[in-house]
Amino acid sequence: MLIKIAAIFLVGLLALAYQAIQPPPPRTCGSPHGPPVTAPRIKLRDGRHLAYKEHGVPRELAKNKIVFLHGFGSCRHDAVIATNLPKGLLEELGVYIVSFDRPGYGESDPDPNRTVKSLALDVEELADKLELGAKFYVMGFSMGGQAVWGCLKYIPHRLAGATLMTPVINYWWHNLPSNMTTKAYYDQPTQDQWALRVAHYFPWLTYWWFTQNWFPSSSVVQRNPAIFSHQDLSILSKLRRPYQSQVQQQGEAESICREARIGFGRWDFDPLDIDNPFPDNTGHVHLWQGDDDKIIPVMLQRYIAQNIPWIQYHEVPGSGHLFPHIEEITATIIKTQLVH
Ligand SMILES: *[C@@H]1O[C@H](CO)[C@@H](O)[C@H](O)[C@H]1NC(C)=O
Ligand SMILES: *[C@@H]1O[C@H](CO)[C@@H](O)[C@H](O)[C@H]1NC(C)=O
Repeated sequence: MLIKIAAIFLVGLLALAYQAIQPPPPRTCGSPHGPPVTAPRIKLRDGRHLAYKEHGVPRELAKNKIVFLHGFGSCRHDAVIATNLPKGLLEELGVYIVSFDRPGYGESDPDPNRTVKSLALDVEELADKLELGAKFYVMGFSMGGQAVWGCLKYIPHRLAGATLMTPVINYWWHNLPSNMTTKAYYDQPTQDQWALRVAHYFPWLTYWWFTQNWFPSSSVVQRNPAIFSHQDLSILSKLRRPYQSQVQQQGEAESICREARIGFGRWDFDPLDIDNPFPDNTGHVHLWQGDDDKIIPVMLQRYIAQNIPWIQYHEVPGSGHLFPHIEEITATIIKTQLVH
């Protein structure tokens, strides 16, 4: 009898545990119970939609076209490179910028088959559907900077140039010296060591880990002040994002969790393996990093930049992770890419 009760109890417990780690299906935009579609969208090769937002001069008139990739927990409205510039600069430079909700964020359909490569192909297809021409620039911030590495690897022939703003580093990239990754890894708050460990080794647990309340989850997800520099905190205190509730409206599983699993998962390549995308020097690749960044270890970023001969590295003194929100710096970044 007792064994029977214990068995029933155990089965119940397992069922509960299974339910907890199993994410609910996404609330896809435009589906009967999902949020509405309000943005223009393109339809991709596999039927998915990407929602986008255009900035600057009309694309028919533009001299320079840029595809912008937003960061973690963000969306098409977080196009720092378009929204934090002195008035008139985009017109002066003849710039068109398109930002888009990366899969699963905002109003773009989730991509359960997403890889580093598929995101680069999404960028290419977006550019083609919008008729941006043979070549365009890509610029990405933070996790979006990590996606720029994917574009440099998989669609270099489509790029006029690329800018990586504090691109996120994957501690499991195989070319990084293990003494450096070990040091940087353990310099993080313990909760972030665990968040990355879960995303890398137990990806099927990521949803539960990022949504449970038993252990502290990722500092980035929880906006823990410990991971922001002085400058970051001052920027955050002034930041207004009225669209915040739309970012993860389709659910955490296919937005932030899918992103963490890919960003910190196993990659087929790392930045040091990428061939020079511009062997004939027709384009430039810039990497910007703050020396007071508490999210991305500057030591590792320097190592990457110093070991890629075709990267132009710019360190922003006194800056943390969020400097692309500072108008003068963003203006310098966009001019450095486009005016040469
Ligand atoms: C994911 O890939 C599988 C196998 O290739 C395919 O059957 C499925 O339709 C894909 N799902 C989506 C949403 O593209
Ligand atoms: C890692 O090892 C290299 C060479 O073995 C050394 O030059 C470097 O300073 C070390 N870095 C750290 C952070 O320990």
